Parts: sequence; structure tokens; C-alpha cells
Amino acid sequence: MTASGLEGVVVADTQLSDVDGERGRLVIRGHDVEALALAHDFEAACGLLWTGAVPDAAAHAELRARLGRARLRAFARLPRLGDALDAADGMEALRAALAHLRASQIPAGELHTELTGAVAVFAAAWARRARAAAPLAPDPELGHAADYLRMASAHGSDPERSRALDAYLVTVVDHGMNASTFTARVVASTESDPVSAVVAALGALKGPLHGGAPGPVLAMLDEIGSPERARAWIEAELAAGRRIMGMGHRVYRVRDPRAAVLERAVERLRATGLRSDRLDLARAVEAVAVGSLGERRPERRLAANVEFYTAVILDALGLPQELFSPTFAVARVAGWLAHVDEQRRGGRLIRPASRYVGPQPETPVAA
Ligand code: COA
Repeated sequence: MTASGLEGVVVADTQLSDVDGERGRLVIRGHDVEALALAHDFEAACGLLWTGAVPDAAAHAELRARLGRARLRAFARLPRLGDALDAADGMEALRAALAHLRASQIPAGELHTELTGAVAVFAAAWARRARAAAPLAPDPELGHAADYLRMASAHGSDPERSRALDAYLVTVVDHGMNASTFTARVVASTESDPVSAVVAALGALKGPLHGGAPGPVLAMLDEIGSPERARAWIEAELAAGRRIMGMGHRVYRVRDPRAAVLERAVERLRATGLRSDRLDLARAVEAVAVGSLGERRPERRLAANVEFYTAVILDALGLPQELFSPTFAVARVAGWLAHVDEQRRGGRLIRPASRYVGPQPETPVAA
């Protein structure tokens, strides 16, 4: 059986982002991810992806206000989501909740903000419901990151933590032809609607090999507990044939540049007085994991990916572990929508081929 996983296959020309796996570089519409995350907030990254340029002050304010209004509309919709938010898994809840949106009822110019606003509000409402708390109404005056944090985190939001969440959301907003983005483009290529593309993409993001990894990374750090236990724990996992979550990547052969951006964002948070004991532990575990994986597979360099430090930063921001994957979706939905647009503009129906290796009919059809 061929198991290429489409590795190295080019399926689209894109202006949205470029992942250089050899040099460990991620470019988002002409901007290095480090520079973008350092200088800009989530709204700016949305504007960049959706229009091709970082918005100027007036366009930024307008986008921020439109996102705020979209969050309010999503909140008003909560009572009409049936039992969608009852799901025990946050990604299942989000998928079911978003499926209630109808593209035909959303003005075309508002589709991006409507869906982006809805993901944040539904994810936050699910997290509070899981803690038996009523959802908090959005504050449309706030930036998207600050408002999401206020609605979702047990610690509420403050400027420093909101800035760190902005850095996270910008860092993961888009990333080449990853599995969920490809899913969104496949759906868009059939001329289906953007809501369907986003719902399908969420399904792909949910898997532990994609957006489902940071929860298990945190669980791993908790199980390891202290740096001196890391080697024995990692070796036992590898000996049992299990993968180390947060390590390895389909494209990167060096450390994922996004891991460094998030690591620095946690460092900045610490400089403001916030405690994150897990940062030191994560660094120690990463070093041990790189060493152990390198000894076993010297030919394929397995380094930390974005999910390793996603676990550390989202935990430091007071977001519960079960909200890590939904929070990834809060950012990535903006990238999916940009890809849906791009696919619709210039793409063709995505319909690859398969090689049939099953049995042939016993009786040949008469000629
Ligand atoms: N821990 C242990 N071994 C790993 C590993 C990990 N995290 N990642 C890859 N490997 C090993 C595989 O077991 C495989 O070994 P084999 O050839 O003996 O079977 C080899 O490296 C190649 O892995 P492969 O699955 O072909 O790579 P991929 O490109 O398909 O996988 C990931 C990329 C991300 C799915 C993979 O590295 C992984 O599962 N990582 C852990 C999950 C994770 O962090 N996901 C978030 C991604 S951003």
C-alpha cells in the first residue's frame, strides 16, 4: 500500500503563507512570522490574510469593530444551538455549533468576520458550560484576543496576557497546506459554501496528529513532573512505540519557528511577574526528547513543533487544557477563510486519483 500522505505534493499556488522546512522559516503574506507576531495583533493578521496588506489604523479599527459585532451576534445565537455545546469534547461542540450557521443568511461581506467571531464565542461558551457557568457576553469594544480571554479564561484578561494571546493567534493563523487547510480547500473547490469548508476543516484539526496535540503535551509535562524524570519517561514512551506529542513535523526538519515565538511570548509574560513553572520543565523535556529521538532516528531530525509551546503558553494564560484545540481554531479559522477565497478565485475542483489494489471480478465481462 502506498502511504505517501501526499508528502511533497504541490496542490495549489498560494500567496498566503510559505513553510520552509529546511531553514525553519514561516512567511505569512510577505512577513516573517516572528516579526508579524511581535508587531501586530490578530485583527491585523486577519486583514493581511483577507486583503493582502496589514490594515492601516482606520481599516484596523473597522475590522476590530466588525469582529466585535460578529461576536455579539454569535452570542445572541447561543440559545438556538440546541445541545451542540453539551458535547464533552470542545472540538465536537464547536463543530456542531458552527454547523448551525447558514452561509446563505450571512451577507457575503460579513462571512469572514461572522465565522471568526462565532468560533471564539462558541469555544468560550463551551468552556464555561463545561464548568457549569453561564456564558459571558462579549465586549465589542475589546480586541478579539482580549475578549476571548475574558470570556474563556478562568483568570479573565489583562493587557499583558491579551498581548500574549494575540502573539499566539497570529503565530498559528496560517501555515501552508496543512491538513485542515487542505480540507477547507477541497470543500471550497467543489463550490460548496464557506461554513461547510470551515466545519470540515475543524474535523481535520481535531485529530491528535494535527491540532489535538497540545492537550497531550500538557498531560505529558504533568506526568513527567520534574526535569530529572524526563529521560526515563521519554525512553519508556518510545520503547512502548508511542510518539512524543509536540515533537516532529511533516515539513520542518529543524525546530518549528513558531515554537520559538511562543517560547519568547511566555518569557515576556514571566518578565511581567506571571509564574510559569512549566516553561522550565518544557525546555528540559524538549532537550531530552530531541536527544532520545535523535539517537533512535539520526537520519530524520525530530524537533519541537508549535504544539509543544502552545501547551505552555495557553496554560500560562489560564485556558484549560480541553480548550487548547478550540483556541487553535479561534486563530486558524481566519487562515481557512483566506484559503477558501483563494481556492474559489483561481482553483479547480480538487479530485486526485487512487490506485486500485483490490480484487478484480472473477468473471470477465463479455467483450
Ligand atoms: N515521536 C516519536 N516518533 C516520531 C514522532 C514523534 N513525535 N514523529 C515522527 N516519529 C517517527 C515515526 O514513528 C516514524 O517512524 P517509522 O518510520 O519508524 O514509522 C518517523 O518518525 C516518520 O514519521 P511520520 O509519521 O512518517 O512523519 P509524518 O510527517 O507523517 O508525521 C507528525 C508528522 C507531526 C504527524 C509526527 O511527527 C507526529 O505524530 N508528531 C506527534 C504529534 C504532534 O505533535 N502533532 C502536531 C503537529 S504540528
